[in-house]
Parts: sequence; structure tokens; C-alpha cells
Amino acid sequence: MFSRLSARALKSSSSLFSASRASAAARGSSVRFASTSSSSYSAFQSALNSNFTLAGASLVSVGSIVWYTHLYGSLPVIGEVHASHLSDEGLHPAEYPWSHKGWMNSFDHASIRRGYQVYREVCAACHSLDRIAWRNLVGVSHTADESRAMAEEIEYQDGPDDNGEMFMRPGKLSDYMPAPYPNEEAARAGNAGALPPDLSLIVKARHGAADYIFSLLTGYIDPPAGVEIREGMNYNPFFPGGAIGMARVLFDGLVEYDDGTPATTSQMAKDVVTFLNWAAEPEHDERKKVGIKAIILFSSLFALSLYTKRFKWTPIKNRKIFYDPPAGKH
Ligand code: HEC
Repeated sequence: MFSRLSARALKSSSSLFSASRASAAARGSSVRFASTSSSSYSAFQSALNSNFTLAGASLVSVGSIVWYTHLYGSLPVIGEVHASHLSDEGLHPAEYPWSHKGWMNSFDHASIRRGYQVYREVCAACHSLDRIAWRNLVGVSHTADESRAMAEEIEYQDGPDDNGEMFMRPGKLSDYMPAPYPNEEAARAGNAGALPPDLSLIVKARHGAADYIFSLLTGYIDPPAGVEIREGMNYNPFFPGGAIGMARVLFDGLVEYDDGTPATTSQMAKDVVTFLNWAAEPEHDERKKVGIKAIILFSSLFALSLYTKRFKWTPIKNRKIFYDPPAGKH
């Protein structure tokens, strides 16, 4: 009787179910039609009981909890006790429509150029930009000649020469942006104990990113009634704690832009933040361009593979297997 079972039916059903199926078929007295999906119920049941499903489900639950906690803090069922008021963590910055925000948008390079000017003329007095070399500006905000000329204005220590002496030489494209202070102690001493952080990655290093830095630079106000600020500190509601060592640095008309853009406080803040955003993500434009290409390429490949899979499996998925008992035996 087994031998009369279609060989294809035995081959196609997984070995796990073939035995039970075959015996079920053997017990049945009438003609039994079976398709490859006839085992789907038991397959579903065993999938439900498998260790793999158990591990998967645990992983999904743990993952959702971790993701929720990452986004919103602790779970709502767990009470939180704050020693401080929520406002101590700083005012939440507004969301600004940055021109480079969005899947398809690149940096505004004219803004990066203006932003570099603001950094150089204002922020560079206190903040270093360690990870940016002069050559990085080439083709982004300045030409090679402009960058070289700017580098040459600065003296760098080099050496040792043939006599073992260190010497000073004009900067080259491969030199990194000079730091305003030789070390952290000097930086703190120059800023009443507060350390001006390196700005290379600051946009990535703060919650709220560009929105936060923009809000910080434009958000200086007098301390509200009842708030005491220590001598030498400044009030900024966006800075966690409210009291920041850096005073307001941007004022209307502080710099004069080459391209004639009016240098208002918010314009300079927007430009310098765009510049710092570029400094933190120099690969940004390229990344989005490659991303779009990858999405187009991989989605067409996916569609193609879907089509090929269905094409190849059609005869197998659409066949109908039935058992035809030998006539006259019963
Ligand atoms: C006179 C020196 C000085 C100048 C000029 C200056 N800063 Fe600062 N900046 C500081 C100091 C000091 C701190 C550290 C403040 C603190 O920790 O309380 C700081 C902190 C910062 C921070 C970090 C805030 C945070 O969340 O920790 C950012 C961002 C920043 N400055 C951006 C700028 C930008 C952009 C410019 C130019 C437009 C600029 N600064 C100009 C001294 C300066």
C-alpha cells in the first residue's frame, strides 16, 4: 500500500511528518486527497512548541522592553523617583527644519562655508576642532588654494631637524586645525574652571544634536525670578542645570560674511551649527547618495529574487497529490 503512495508525496513532505501522514492515509478507507499544505496545522503546532520559537519570543519581548526604555525611560509600571526637577535637565529644544534633514537632502555648502567663518572668528578662541584637517575643507566649503592659504597663515611646530631641534613652519593642507589651548588645564584656567569641549563631534555628542546646539547659542536669557546663578556663570534654559560657563557669544553683526548674508545672531548660529554638523558627519552627503543607490539596487534585486522564487516553485506549490487505492481490494 505504501508503495502506491505517490513517490512525490513522500519526497516532498518533511521526514518528520511523512510517517504519520502515511499511516493516516493507510487508515483511511476512502480516497484521500492530500496537498503539500495538509501538514500545515501540525507544523504550526510544533513551531509553537519549538525551542527556537521560545527563544525568538523571549528575544522580541526583551528587545521591546529595551527599546521602550531607551526611548522613554523606565517602564510605566516601575515608579521613578527624581531627586531633581525635570527642568534641571534642560529645556527640550524645538525641532528646526534643517536643510540637510531628510532622506534626500544634502548639506547647504554655502552655509558650511559661512559656518566655518563663524567658528574661526568666534568659537576657535576657546574651542578646538581636533578631528578636522585643512584638507577636509577642500571641495566642501573652500577650494584647495583657499584652504592652503588659510593653513599657511598658522605656524605649526615640526621637527626635529638635522640638529635635533624642533622648528616652526607654515601649515600644510595635511595639518589639523590648531587648538586654542595647549592642554586641558590651560583651557580650564582660561575659562573660570569650565572646559570648552572639542567641537568636532559635539553635534553627535549631545541629545537634540543640531537643534540643541542652535537653541543653546540663541537661548541665553536673564535668569528667571528666584533662580540664583553663581558669579561668572550664565543662565541658559537649554543647558542641563541652567548655569553654563560659556557666555553668550553671538550678537547681530559680529562677523561680516563674504557672500553678503546679513549676520544676525540666528543666521550665524544656523551656519555654525551646519558647519559643526558637517564636521561631525563629513560622510553625510555621500552616505545618503549611496543609501538611495543601495535602496534602488537592493529593492530591484529583491523583486527579481521574489519573481524567480515563485517561478521556480510554481509547479511544486500548485501540484495536487492524491492517493488512489488499488481497485477491487476492499
Ligand atoms: C570665551 C570662550 C568661548 C567661546 C568664544 C565659545 N565657547 Fe562654547 N564653551 C565655552 C565653555 C567654557 C564651555 C563649557 C561650559 C560648561 O561646561 O559650563 C563651552 C561649551 C560649549 C558647548 C557645550 C555645551 C554642552 O552641552 O555641554 C557647545 C556646543 C559650545 N560651547 C559651542 C560653542 C560655539 C558654537 C561657539 C562659537 C559660536 C562657542 N561655543 C564659543 C567657552 C566658549
